[in-house]
Amino acid sequence: MGNCCRKPAKCAHASSTNFSSGRKKSHNNELKQDSTSSYLQASWGSFNNSLITSKVDTSVPSNLKSFSFSELKNATKNFRSETFLGEGGFGCVFKGWLDENTLAPTKPGTGIVVAVKRLKAESFQGHKEWLAEVNYLGQLRHGNLVKLIGYCAESENRLLVYEFMPKGSLECHLFRKRDLPLPWATRMRIAIDVARGLSFLHGLNANVIYRDLKASNILLDSDFNAKLSDFGLARDGPTGDNTHVSTRVVGTRGYAAPEYVATGHLTPKSDVYSFGVVLLELLSGRRAMDDERANFVEETLVDWAKPFLSDPRRVLRIMDTRLGGQYSKKGAQAAAALALQCLHTDPKNRPSMTEVLTALEKNISKDVPTSPSPTNLDNHRIKQLNSPRRTNTAITNLT
Ligand SMILES: Nc1ncnc2c1ncn2[C@@H]1O[C@H](COP(=O)(O)OP(=O)(O)OP(=O)(O)O)[C@@H](O)[C@H]1O
Ligand SMILES: [Mg+2]
Repeated sequence: MGNCCRKPAKCAHASSTNFSSGRKKSHNNELKQDSTSSYLQASWGSFNNSLITSKVDTSVPSNLKSFSFSELKNATKNFRSETFLGEGGFGCVFKGWLDENTLAPTKPGTGIVVAVKRLKAESFQGHKEWLAEVNYLGQLRHGNLVKLIGYCAESENRLLVYEFMPKGSLECHLFRKRDLPLPWATRMRIAIDVARGLSFLHGLNANVIYRDLKASNILLDSDFNAKLSDFGLARDGPTGDNTHVSTRVVGTRGYAAPEYVATGHLTPKSDVYSFGVVLLELLSGRRAMDDERANFVEETLVDWAKPFLSDPRRVLRIMDTRLGGQYSKKGAQAAAALALQCLHTDPKNRPSMTEVLTALEKNISKDVPTSPSPTNLDNHRIKQLNSPRRTNTAITNLT
């Protein structure tokens, strides 16, 4: 776990024809805008004003705990290296301990374990993502979404406190060669969990487009149940007669749907495409974007796999050799056919996430031990007419 894996490139801005143009690689290979836009700076100003004043606490979902910085310092042993779990574009993640009743910091090894994400001080985009994360994960509850417990917005400090996911990210398990490979049944259970999480998000009650589906954002609990994390790029889906929402292009290379990259038009079918890429990663054990593939010619996993996917005689050639042939041939063929549908160039021809979930549950996972499905009673979105993400222009104008 931790930052054991090479990162795929994240894109914070891309031209329609050249997704990788003008990019700067940060330490973790993310793509960033070449300069911070005046918009971002303006919104940072309003963000600061709105969050640092006393109005703050009434504008974030009330079911979240507001932590002081010193509480989180104590919970993580002063962010000591032994509690370090990993690092992403947003900042570093640490393990912490809280009393399960009061949520006050406790001695390491007692109470409940949490993951504390600390925003890098210099990250303008990070502040916007922090706020989006608080607003979305504060309102959405589902067994396949990671639970946000609280946040800290004290002075310049921005932190998030999540339930701890002991097995870390799917990215590490799928691509880290020193660990045992994930068995076929676990891979399919993870695909089902992810499809369940996305179907919930796309449902009428939530109507949210996740926009950042990738292996590193799929976290695993001790039983390898999968949950979606990182809602910093999530957006409200289209409503009424609108077919899409228009956005600035953000996301991660190799996972983002081609029509979204070309036009900025975002629909739930953009998430379906990314799901198709993750499904391919689960089948093949290969990364969505691997610069080393094809002799340094940048080829995506989709480019590489498509010719095999559309040929029933050759489709099993994409399968991860680390599985050692230990998988259901029929299940793998059905999963590959489903991935091909999700990756259709015309978004209208892609299935919905509900259809994807049905296909996985009925046709592909027959020989897969089922995980207890998260109770629908837990699934609700706390509706707030004055919800912060509807009133806060810094968020609605995010893209
Ligand atoms: N709730 C959690 N429980 C346990 N580990 C976590 C949790 N959240 C994050 N981590 C670990 O912290 C590391 C960094 O996560 P983070 O979400 O910041 O970055 P990322 O998803 O790897 O990259 P990106 O910034 O592109 O989303 C990951 O390796 C992940 O395994
Ligand atoms: Mg992440």
